[in-house]
Amino acid sequence: MGEQIQPVRGMNDVLPEAIGAWQYFERVTRELLTAYGYEEIRVPLLEHTELFQRAIGEHTDVVGKEMYTFIDRGGDSLTLRPEATAGIVRALISNGMLRGQRHKLWCLGPMFRHEAPQAGRYRQFWQVDVEAVGSPGPDVDAELIAMSARLWQRLGIEGLTLQLNSLGTPESRRLYRARLVEYLEAHASQLDADSRRRLVGNPLRVLDSKNPEMQELISRAPRLTEHLDPESQAHFEQLCAMLRALGVRYEINPRLVRGLDYYNRTVFEWITASTAAQNAVCSGGRYDGLIAQLGGDATPAVGFAMGVERLVTLLVAAGRVPAAPRPDVYVVVGAPQAFQPALQLTERLRTERPEVRFELNAGGGNLKAQFRRADRSGALLALILGEDEVARAVVGLKPLRDTAGQIECPMAQLPAGLDTALAAARAAAAKP
Ligand code: HAM
Repeated sequence: MGEQIQPVRGMNDVLPEAIGAWQYFERVTRELLTAYGYEEIRVPLLEHTELFQRAIGEHTDVVGKEMYTFIDRGGDSLTLRPEATAGIVRALISNGMLRGQRHKLWCLGPMFRHEAPQAGRYRQFWQVDVEAVGSPGPDVDAELIAMSARLWQRLGIEGLTLQLNSLGTPESRRLYRARLVEYLEAHASQLDADSRRRLVGNPLRVLDSKNPEMQELISRAPRLTEHLDPESQAHFEQLCAMLRALGVRYEINPRLVRGLDYYNRTVFEWITASTAAQNAVCSGGRYDGLIAQLGGDATPAVGFAMGVERLVTLLVAAGRVPAAPRPDVYVVVGAPQAFQPALQLTERLRTERPEVRFELNAGGGNLKAQFRRADRSGALLALILGEDEVARAVVGLKPLRDTAGQIECPMAQLPAGLDTALAAARAAAAKP
């Protein structure tokens, strides 16, 4: 026997037993995004490494230590996308879609980051990414956030809180950054190794530290919100006013800085208190400078991405997942000679009744075993075809969820006879 091949660490199989929750999440999300006028876009999993270096920033954890980067057979440095925003912006530029036009886009797919895997944090994980390109906000920021709030409601997920902050403009951030570095350097002896490293490349990320021993120092640090330029201040105040008018509750978190460099002004995160998942389930913000920085016509934009595994975990915990669909009719094949007629009949019925789910007993077995499988399948009705039935051109129909007996139906009266039997079986199954 060959040795078993292990899955790659941090990369999950989504098995059929779990797929119902994923499909439910995707269906509700797709319907809502469509209703808000968002269109789906699909972009490659691989991009030139330089795209992420320039978009996300050299000093971020994502680019500095988490990317899956390799040299392909043609000698190009390529990277498995760690997020979708950069690729979508690249696609808008490559396809000449930015000449003063607006775009509302969404994208579903796997992302790749070489992080330390744990519950809710994986190396391949799925995002639904949403981008509104072409509007400076704050109206579109507010609408986007209200849409996410509505999504939790539609999905039946409770207990999420919205954290909000403004990062101002790159200039106001530079000024603030200088103040923060001054403060942190004055307290350098209290910084942990991680923060000392961040202080050099990305000092704002020091505010993100989860180290309990750093919290006191961080709470006394100068605040970004106190260093905003007047336009960003007004933008933020208008956004907050709109959210209040819509009844969307938020908390201002002056320490929310996000792990990707392209943001300015609005940033936000939806956080769960549940320990079942990592706490950020949806995060994003405005990136007005990114498109020009990547060579496109200067265009403001805002967006967010949801972590699908984390939200699916919450859905399952809330018991919101619809039951897996069952077959309607299980076709029992009474004898090996009946297999071909049974296959032909089932295919014919699938053509005539495309809405009915048939499961054909494959792989033989005696009648008892087949009825056991029929029962386990959850089907409402068994359709029985043996040698004798084939000879007499009839089928047996037996309800599986109530005590009514088996009846016989001439093949010439199918599919009408099947409709009647199925309707009766449904009615019986629906009775308490
Ligand atoms: P992000 O905060 O890096 O933002 O990721 C967005 C969401 O993806 C997180 O809130 C989390 O739910 C999920 N996520 C991130 N890393 C992992 C992981 N290792 N395992 C499981 N889930 C994870 C972005 O990616 C931005 N592109 C969002 C954006 C769009 N901003 C503007 N437009």
